[in-house]
Amino acid sequence: MNDNVLISARHLSVAYQDKLVLEDITFDIRRGEFWGVLGPNGSGKTTLLRTILGLTLPISGSIQIFGKNPAELGVERDRIGYVPQHALIDFNFPIRVKDVVLLGRSRKIGIGKRAGESDLEAVDAAMKLVEITDLANRQIGRLSGGQRQRVLIARALALQPEILLLDEPTAALDVNAAESFYEWLHAMHEKMKLTLVLVSHDIGVVSRYVSAVACLNRTLVAHGVPAEVLAGDTLEKMYGCDAMLFGHGAVPHMVVTPAKSGGHTH
Ligand SMILES: Nc1ncnc2c1ncn2[C@@H]1O[C@H](COP(=O)(O)OP(=O)(O)OP(=O)(O)O)[C@@H](O)[C@H]1O
Ligand SMILES: [Mg+2]
Repeated sequence: MNDNVLISARHLSVAYQDKLVLEDITFDIRRGEFWGVLGPNGSGKTTLLRTILGLTLPISGSIQIFGKNPAELGVERDRIGYVPQHALIDFNFPIRVKDVVLLGRSRKIGIGKRAGESDLEAVDAAMKLVEITDLANRQIGRLSGGQRQRVLIARALALQPEILLLDEPTAALDVNAAESFYEWLHAMHEKMKLTLVLVSHDIGVVSRYVSAVACLNRTLVAHGVPAEVLAGDTLEKMYGCDAMLFGHGAVPHMVVTPAKSGGHTH
Protein backbone atom coordinates (compact mmCIF):
# COMPACT_ATOMS: atom_id res chain seq x y z
CA MET A 1 0.00 0.00 0.00
CA ASN A 2 1.11 3.53 -0.77
CA ASP A 3 2.76 5.02 2.36
CA ASN A 4 0.55 8.07 2.17
CA VAL A 5 -2.66 6.06 2.34
CA LEU A 6 -3.48 5.66 6.04
CA ILE A 7 -6.96 4.16 5.76
CA SER A 8 -8.13 2.08 2.86
CA ALA A 9 -11.45 0.30 2.26
CA ARG A 10 -12.21 -2.08 -0.61
CA HIS A 11 -15.77 -3.28 -1.26
CA LEU A 12 -16.42 -3.02 2.45
CA SER A 13 -19.78 -4.28 3.73
CA VAL A 14 -20.93 -4.26 7.34
CA ALA A 15 -24.12 -5.73 8.82
CA TYR A 16 -25.76 -5.94 12.23
CA GLN A 17 -27.36 -9.37 12.45
CA ASP A 18 -28.73 -9.65 8.90
CA LYS A 19 -29.27 -5.91 8.34
CA LEU A 20 -26.81 -4.47 5.84
CA VAL A 21 -25.64 -1.07 7.12
CA LEU A 22 -22.65 -0.38 4.87
CA GLU A 23 -22.53 -1.84 1.37
CA ASP A 24 -19.64 -2.10 -1.06
CA ILE A 25 -17.68 0.91 0.21
CA THR A 26 -14.33 1.73 -1.42
CA PHE A 27 -12.09 4.70 -0.53
CA ASP A 28 -8.59 5.79 0.49
CA ILE A 29 -7.78 8.38 3.15
CA ARG A 30 -4.33 9.89 2.73
CA ARG A 31 -2.01 11.36 5.33
CA GLY A 32 -2.93 14.95 6.19
CA GLU A 33 -6.36 14.83 4.60
CA PHE A 34 -9.39 16.40 6.28
CA TRP A 35 -12.20 14.02 5.44
CA GLY A 36 -15.81 15.01 6.02
CA VAL A 37 -18.49 12.31 6.22
CA LEU A 38 -22.05 13.44 5.49
CA GLY A 39 -25.24 11.44 5.62
CA PRO A 40 -28.71 11.30 7.16
CA ASN A 41 -29.48 9.60 10.48
CA GLY A 42 -28.92 5.86 10.33
CA SER A 43 -26.83 6.05 7.16
CA GLY A 44 -23.89 4.20 8.74
CA LYS A 45 -21.53 7.08 9.67
CA THR A 46 -20.79 5.91 13.20
CA THR A 47 -20.58 2.33 11.97
CA LEU A 48 -17.93 3.41 9.46
CA LEU A 49 -15.81 4.97 12.22
CA ARG A 50 -16.25 1.89 14.41
CA THR A 51 -15.17 -0.32 11.50
CA ILE A 52 -12.07 1.83 10.96
CA LEU A 53 -11.27 1.26 14.63
CA GLY A 54 -11.86 -2.50 14.48
CA LEU A 55 -14.78 -2.27 16.93
CA THR A 56 -17.21 -3.57 14.30
CA LEU A 57 -16.14 -6.24 11.82
CA PRO A 58 -16.97 -6.33 8.09
CA ILE A 59 -18.99 -9.20 6.63
CA SER A 60 -17.18 -8.83 3.30
CA GLY A 61 -14.57 -6.71 1.60
CA SER A 62 -11.63 -5.29 3.51
CA ILE A 63 -10.49 -2.34 5.55
CA GLN A 64 -6.92 -1.45 6.46
CA ILE A 65 -5.43 1.19 8.70
CA PHE A 66 -1.67 1.73 8.76
CA GLY A 67 -1.62 -1.21 6.34
CA LYS A 68 -3.19 -3.60 8.85
CA ASN A 69 -6.53 -5.12 9.66
CA PRO A 70 -7.97 -2.79 12.35
CA ALA A 71 -8.97 -5.74 14.52
CA GLU A 72 -5.32 -6.79 14.67
CA LEU A 73 -3.78 -3.46 15.61
CA GLY A 74 -1.25 -3.54 18.42
CA VAL A 75 0.62 -0.42 19.49
CA GLU A 76 -0.59 1.25 16.28
CA ARG A 77 -3.93 1.69 18.07
CA ASP A 78 -2.27 4.51 20.01
CA ARG A 79 -1.79 6.40 16.74
CA ILE A 80 -5.57 6.85 16.39
CA GLY A 81 -7.64 9.26 18.46
CA TYR A 82 -11.42 8.81 18.65
CA VAL A 83 -14.02 11.25 19.91
CA PRO A 84 -17.26 9.20 19.98
CA GLN A 85 -20.69 10.64 19.25
CA HIS A 86 -21.94 9.74 22.71
CA ALA A 87 -19.03 10.04 25.11
CA LEU A 88 -19.36 7.73 28.08
CA ILE A 89 -18.50 10.36 30.64
CA ASP A 90 -20.46 11.27 33.73
CA PHE A 91 -20.12 15.04 33.83
CA ASN A 92 -21.40 15.07 37.41
CA PHE A 93 -18.47 13.00 38.57
CA PRO A 94 -16.13 15.23 40.64
CA ILE A 95 -13.05 14.99 38.46
CA ARG A 96 -10.83 17.77 37.13
CA VAL A 97 -10.31 18.58 33.48
CA LYS A 98 -6.65 17.55 33.51
CA ASP A 99 -7.54 14.15 35.00
CA VAL A 100 -10.03 13.49 32.21
CA VAL A 101 -7.36 14.36 29.65
CA LEU A 102 -4.90 12.07 31.45
CA LEU A 103 -7.42 9.22 31.09
CA GLY A 104 -6.70 9.43 27.36
CA ARG A 105 -3.15 8.27 28.12
CA SER A 106 -4.16 5.25 30.22
CA ARG A 107 -3.38 2.70 27.54
CA LYS A 108 0.16 4.04 27.22
CA ILE A 109 0.68 4.38 30.98
CA GLY A 110 -0.51 0.84 31.71
CA ILE A 111 -2.85 -0.55 34.34
CA GLY A 112 -1.91 0.31 37.91
CA LYS A 113 1.12 2.39 36.88
CA ARG A 114 1.65 6.04 37.69
CA ALA A 115 1.79 8.68 34.98
CA GLY A 116 5.37 9.63 34.12
CA GLU A 117 6.77 13.00 33.13
CA SER A 118 6.18 12.39 29.41
CA ASP A 119 2.52 11.57 30.14
CA LEU A 120 2.01 14.80 32.07
CA GLU A 121 3.76 16.74 29.33
CA ALA A 122 1.48 15.17 26.70
CA VAL A 123 -1.56 16.14 28.78
CA ASP A 124 -0.33 19.73 29.09
CA ALA A 125 0.37 19.87 25.35
CA ALA A 126 -3.09 18.52 24.48
CA MET A 127 -4.80 21.06 26.78
CA LYS A 128 -2.74 23.86 25.29
CA LEU A 129 -3.65 22.76 21.78
CA VAL A 130 -7.38 22.94 22.44
CA GLU A 131 -6.94 26.08 24.55
CA ILE A 132 -8.23 24.76 27.86
CA THR A 133 -5.05 25.20 29.94
CA ASP A 134 -6.83 27.74 32.14
CA LEU A 135 -9.53 25.15 32.86
CA ALA A 136 -7.09 22.41 33.94
CA ASN A 137 -8.19 22.35 37.58
CA ARG A 138 -11.87 22.99 36.92
CA GLN A 139 -14.38 20.21 37.71
CA ILE A 140 -15.80 18.89 34.45
CA GLY A 141 -19.36 19.45 35.66
CA ARG A 142 -18.71 23.21 35.66
CA LEU A 143 -18.00 23.59 31.96
CA SER A 144 -20.06 24.76 29.01
CA GLY A 145 -20.94 22.31 26.22
CA GLY A 146 -18.22 23.74 23.97
CA GLN A 147 -15.61 23.50 26.72
CA ARG A 148 -16.60 19.88 27.43
CA GLN A 149 -16.19 19.04 23.78
CA ARG A 150 -12.68 20.47 23.84
CA VAL A 151 -11.87 18.38 26.90
CA LEU A 152 -12.97 15.25 25.03
CA ILE A 153 -10.81 16.20 22.08
CA ALA A 154 -7.84 16.89 24.37
CA ARG A 155 -8.42 13.44 25.88
CA ALA A 156 -8.16 11.94 22.37
CA LEU A 157 -5.09 14.08 21.57
CA ALA A 158 -3.29 13.04 24.76
CA LEU A 159 -1.98 9.99 22.91
CA GLN A 160 -0.53 12.32 20.25
CA PRO A 161 -2.36 10.47 17.46
CA GLU A 162 -1.70 10.77 13.74
CA ILE A 163 -5.36 10.22 12.89
CA LEU A 164 -8.28 11.83 14.72
CA LEU A 165 -11.82 10.50 14.21
CA LEU A 166 -14.58 12.90 15.31
CA ASP A 167 -18.23 11.82 15.38
CA GLU A 168 -20.65 14.79 15.38
CA PRO A 169 -18.45 16.85 17.72
CA THR A 170 -20.74 19.89 17.64
CA ALA A 171 -24.03 18.12 18.36
CA ALA A 172 -24.32 19.84 21.76
CA LEU A 173 -23.30 23.29 20.54
CA ASP A 174 -25.33 26.22 19.26
CA VAL A 175 -24.71 27.55 15.75
CA ASN A 176 -22.16 30.18 16.81
CA ALA A 177 -20.25 27.83 19.07
CA ALA A 178 -20.23 25.19 16.33
CA GLU A 179 -18.92 27.73 13.84
CA SER A 180 -16.02 28.78 16.06
CA PHE A 181 -15.33 25.17 16.94
CA TYR A 182 -14.91 24.31 13.26
CA GLU A 183 -12.74 27.36 12.65
CA TRP A 184 -10.53 26.17 15.47
CA LEU A 185 -10.51 22.60 14.11
CA HIS A 186 -9.52 23.88 10.69
CA ALA A 187 -6.67 25.95 12.18
CA MET A 188 -5.50 22.95 14.19
CA HIS A 189 -5.54 20.81 11.09
CA GLU A 190 -3.38 23.35 9.25
CA LYS A 191 -0.94 23.56 12.15
CA MET A 192 -0.63 19.89 13.15
CA LYS A 193 -1.01 18.17 9.77
CA LEU A 194 -3.21 15.63 11.52
CA THR A 195 -5.35 13.35 9.40
CA LEU A 196 -8.93 14.19 10.34
CA VAL A 197 -12.11 12.22 9.72
CA LEU A 198 -15.11 14.29 10.72
CA VAL A 199 -18.71 13.08 10.79
CA SER A 200 -21.08 16.03 10.63
CA HIS A 201 -24.57 17.00 9.59
CA ASP A 202 -23.42 20.51 8.78
CA ILE A 203 -23.05 20.60 5.02
CA GLY A 204 -21.96 24.26 5.00
CA VAL A 205 -19.09 23.61 7.36
CA VAL A 206 -18.06 20.42 5.70
CA SER A 207 -17.91 22.00 2.27
CA ARG A 208 -15.89 24.94 3.62
CA TYR A 209 -13.15 23.20 5.57
CA VAL A 210 -12.65 19.63 4.44
CA SER A 211 -10.32 18.48 1.66
CA ALA A 212 -12.59 15.57 0.72
CA VAL A 213 -16.21 14.76 1.38
CA ALA A 214 -17.84 11.34 1.56
CA CYS A 215 -21.63 11.16 1.23
CA LEU A 216 -22.89 8.04 2.88
CA ASN A 217 -26.27 6.40 2.75
CA ARG A 218 -25.49 2.72 3.26
CA THR A 219 -23.53 2.92 0.03
CA LEU A 220 -20.97 5.63 -0.66
CA VAL A 221 -23.23 7.88 -2.72
CA ALA A 222 -20.31 10.10 -3.73
CA HIS A 223 -16.89 11.15 -2.61
CA GLY A 224 -14.24 13.60 -3.70
CA VAL A 225 -13.57 17.35 -3.59
CA PRO A 226 -16.50 19.15 -1.86
CA ALA A 227 -17.32 21.62 -4.66
CA GLU A 228 -17.64 18.79 -7.18
CA VAL A 229 -19.35 16.24 -4.99
CA LEU A 230 -21.93 18.66 -3.66
CA ALA A 231 -22.66 20.35 -7.00
CA GLY A 232 -24.69 17.55 -8.58
CA ASP A 233 -27.73 15.66 -7.37
CA THR A 234 -25.80 13.92 -4.59
CA LEU A 235 -27.76 15.52 -1.78
CA GLU A 236 -31.02 14.69 -3.47
CA LYS A 237 -29.94 11.06 -3.71
CA MET A 238 -28.79 11.13 -0.12
CA TYR A 239 -31.51 13.06 1.65
CA GLY A 240 -34.28 12.96 -0.92
CA CYS A 241 -34.33 16.76 -1.01
CA ASP A 242 -33.30 19.53 -3.33
CA ALA A 243 -30.02 21.33 -2.80
CA MET A 244 -28.71 24.60 -4.15
CA LEU A 245 -25.08 25.47 -4.19
CA PHE A 246 -24.11 29.14 -4.06
CA GLY A 247 -20.56 30.27 -4.66
CA HIS A 248 -19.40 32.74 -1.98
CA GLY A 249 -16.07 33.55 -3.59
CA ALA A 250 -13.99 30.43 -3.20
CA VAL A 251 -16.24 29.25 -0.39
CA PRO A 252 -19.20 27.12 -1.43
CA HIS A 253 -22.21 27.62 0.77
CA MET A 254 -24.95 25.05 0.71
CA VAL A 255 -28.62 25.72 1.19
CA VAL A 256 -30.88 22.70 1.41
CA THR A 257 -34.60 23.04 0.78
CA PRO A 258 -37.19 20.29 1.12
CA ALA A 259 -38.56 20.83 -2.43
CA LYS A 260 -38.51 17.93 -4.90
CA SER A 261 -38.09 19.97 -8.09
CA GLY A 262 -34.78 20.42 -9.92
CA GLY A 263 -31.86 22.10 -8.15
CA HIS A 264 -30.05 25.26 -9.20
CA THR A 265 -26.39 25.97 -9.19
CA HIS A 266 -25.42 29.61 -9.07
N1 LIG B 1 -25.18 -2.12 17.70
C1 LIG B 1 -26.12 -2.12 16.76
N2 LIG B 1 -26.92 -3.22 16.58
C2 LIG B 1 -27.86 -3.24 15.63
N3 LIG B 1 -28.08 -2.24 14.76
C3 LIG B 1 -27.34 -1.14 14.89
C4 LIG B 1 -26.31 -1.03 15.89
N4 LIG B 1 -25.72 0.19 15.77
C5 LIG B 1 -26.34 0.81 14.76
N5 LIG B 1 -27.30 0.03 14.21
C6 LIG B 1 -28.15 0.36 13.04
O1 LIG B 1 -27.28 0.55 11.93
C7 LIG B 1 -27.71 1.65 11.13
C8 LIG B 1 -26.57 2.66 11.03
O2 LIG B 1 -26.32 3.20 12.32
P1 LIG B 1 -25.19 4.30 12.58
O3 LIG B 1 -25.17 4.54 14.04
O4 LIG B 1 -23.93 3.87 11.93
O5 LIG B 1 -25.80 5.53 11.78
P2 LIG B 1 -25.35 7.08 11.79
O6 LIG B 1 -25.20 7.46 10.37
O7 LIG B 1 -24.20 7.26 12.68
O8 LIG B 1 -26.66 7.81 12.38
P3 LIG B 1 -26.78 9.14 13.28
O9 LIG B 1 -26.68 10.29 12.32
O10 LIG B 1 -28.14 9.03 13.86
O11 LIG B 1 -25.70 9.13 14.31
C9 LIG B 1 -28.97 2.19 11.82
O12 LIG B 1 -30.07 1.65 11.14
C10 LIG B 1 -28.88 1.66 13.23
O13 LIG B 1 -30.16 1.46 13.76
MG1 LIG C 1 -23.88 8.32 14.38
